[in-house]
Amino acid sequence: MQLRLDKYLADMGIGTRSEVKQYIRKKLIQVNGQLPCGPEQKVVPGQDHIIFQGKEIIYLDYEYFMFHKPQGCVCATMDPKYPTVLDYITEKNRKDLFPVGRLDLDTEGLLLITNDGALSHNLLAPGRHVPKTYYARVEGNVTQEDVKCFQDGVDIGEKRNTLPAQLHILSSIQQPPDTENWISEIQLTLTEGKYHQVKRMFEAVGKKVLYLKRISMGKLKLDDSLQPGDYRRLTEEEIYLLKNHFERRRL
Ligand code: URA
Repeated sequence: MQLRLDKYLADMGIGTRSEVKQYIRKKLIQVNGQLPCGPEQKVVPGQDHIIFQGKEIIYLDYEYFMFHKPQGCVCATMDPKYPTVLDYITEKNRKDLFPVGRLDLDTEGLLLITNDGALSHNLLAPGRHVPKTYYARVEGNVTQEDVKCFQDGVDIGEKRNTLPAQLHILSSIQQPPDTENWISEIQLTLTEGKYHQVKRMFEAVGKKVLYLKRISMGKLKLDDSLQPGDYRRLTEEEIYLLKNHFERRRL
C-alpha cells in the first residue's frame, strides 16, 4: 500500500493535513534519511522510514485501547456537556478512534476503544451474542427466583423478552442488620445490549441498580491494575483473542 506523505503523517496525528505540509516545507520531515520532494511523495508503511523531530513515525492502521471508564464521561466522540471517553486517551495516533458500544454516564468499567470497524461490528452485532459480564450492587434481596427469571428472559418493555442471562448472587445482606433494607452484589452475563439493559432487568423484578461496572466483553477482561480513568493498549494476545472469538465460532 502506498500513501501520500502528508496523509501518512496526518493519519498518525502529527498535525492536520495543512500543518504537516508546513512541516514538510520547513524541512522537518525526512524519508529514508532524505528530504522529501513534497507532501504528495508516495511512501510505503512498514518499508519507508519517516522521521519527524528525530523520532520515527510508525504507521498504524489500527489502534486498540482498553479503557477503565469512570463515571461522569460519555461514550461518544463529541459531547457539548460531558467529557468523552476519547478525551482520556491522550497517547493516541489515529484520529478516527471510537468507543465500541455504550456504557451509561454513571456506569464504570471495561470499554474497548479502537478504529477497527469490522471488529466493533462483530462485537456488537445482535446475532453474534458476544457475552458481556457486569458486576452490580443492587438495592433489594436478589434471590434464586430472580436467577430463574433472568435465565428464562424478562419483559423490559421491548417486543421480545430478554435473551437468557446468567445471574450469580455474590452476596445479599440486610443493611443495617435485621431490617428490610437489603443490598445484593451480583454478576450478570448478557449476550445482547439493549439500552439500560441491566438496570431495566432489575427494575422488571422490582429492584434497583445502585452501582454498575462492566468487567468483561467476550474474552477481554478488565485489567485489575487499571483505575477508573486509566487506559492501556491491548496486547497482541488480547487482540488475537477478540478477533479469534469469531473465527473459532465459524468453524
Ligand atoms: N446496562 C445498563 O443498564 N447500563 C449500562 O451502562 C450497561 C448495561
